[in-house]
Amino acid sequence: MSEGQSDELRVAVLGVGKMGSFHVDSLTRRTRGARVSVVSDCSDEQAHRVADPVGARVVAEPAEAVTADDVDAVVIASPGTAHESQILACLEAGKPVLCEKPLTTEAATAAAVYRRETALGRRLVQVGFMRRFDHEYAALQQMIAGGELGAPLMLHCTHRNPAVPEFFDSEYMIRDSVVHEADSARFLLGEEIAAVSVVRGRPTAAAPAGVSDPMLVLFEAASGALVTIEIFVRTGIAYEVRTEVVAEHGSAIIGLDQNVVAKRVGGTWGGTITPDFVARFGQAYDDQMQRWADAARRGIATGGDAVDGPGTWDGYAAAAICEAGVAAVVKGERIETGMEDPSGASGATGDRSGASGATGDDS
Ligand SMILES: NC(=O)c1ccc[n+]([C@@H]2O[C@H](COP(=O)([O-])OP(=O)(O)OC[C@H]3O[C@@H](n4cnc5c(N)ncnc54)[C@H](O)[C@@H]3O)[C@@H](O)[C@H]2O)c1
Repeated sequence: MSEGQSDELRVAVLGVGKMGSFHVDSLTRRTRGARVSVVSDCSDEQAHRVADPVGARVVAEPAEAVTADDVDAVVIASPGTAHESQILACLEAGKPVLCEKPLTTEAATAAAVYRRETALGRRLVQVGFMRRFDHEYAALQQMIAGGELGAPLMLHCTHRNPAVPEFFDSEYMIRDSVVHEADSARFLLGEEIAAVSVVRGRPTAAAPAGVSDPMLVLFEAASGALVTIEIFVRTGIAYEVRTEVVAEHGSAIIGLDQNVVAKRVGGTWGGTITPDFVARFGQAYDDQMQRWADAARRGIATGGDAVDGPGTWDGYAAAAICEAGVAAVVKGERIETGMEDPSGASGATGDRSGASGATGDDS
């Protein structure tokens, strides 16, 4: 923080719909050393609804919010199509940013953002792959990395939503939902994904015409380890995200909703399943915010890196995997991700990757 500024990190939040308003609440009520000073949303009414109760200013233009004097750092929660220009504005202003996934909507633009940040010589962009901050994912990653289970051979992932808007077609399911599995798989396996295949099965009657819901997605990791993903976004039940690793010496599973009270009522027994992603990952979103805010304050104070979690390389990798996934859906073929180091350095899956990084500072 420069001279004359308070110690508190003053944050602008761009886009205050479902995620952005959650982040405003998190920054206001559950994050130490940070507050929301500015809100910008293309709906003025929505901006005021979120900004006024927390005493933040509303600025109509996101670019103006980024450069404002009372803004030290930025949270981007606008739709993915707006991310590229808003991140580039933050890099231009030298301000730390926590950007919701996706980093950008195409691998080429994500690579360009990675290159732009690399040229600055300082990491300023954290991508909101919040599962890395979830206690279960973090424990599973540590268990795998610690070698207790032996080499991981397969991951079996389940991603089910109770319902989604009509526009969620097969390609959107890859870009919006499977993108989380793309980052989780890289995080858990500690390596890059080399190829993606998709099998479109029998659709649920709840799916609009032409939409394959559910689908089975297969990632092939660079080592040959396999990742199966059931993506089913219209179950009508609840939000269910499970991951099982099958390794040489054992297996482990997360996401079983074990922390709930099992009721015995009216001749039946059971508990509730988390209704939505905020309920399931609330702790992860809040921990992500605290660690980002701490890293942003450190980065501002030292002029160094301002990130503690997945960064632009991880955003690029997820974009490349999703692009291959969408092509696999459209063409019905196995598609290689063709990931290259966009900085031009050798080693497509080399040490720039955050794949093996824990939630810490090496990703
Ligand atoms: N990490 C997660 O688990 C998770 C979950 C949901 C959404 N997301 C991501 O968060 C982002 C927002 O999703 P959402 O569900 O909150 O969407 P939303 O539609 O609820 O909210 C988006 C908000 O951004 C505003 N907006 C639109 N264009 C804008 C622009 N150019 N500049 C500023 N504001 C703009 C809209 O008016 C709206 O208020 C997306 O990138 C989405 O992929 C992440």
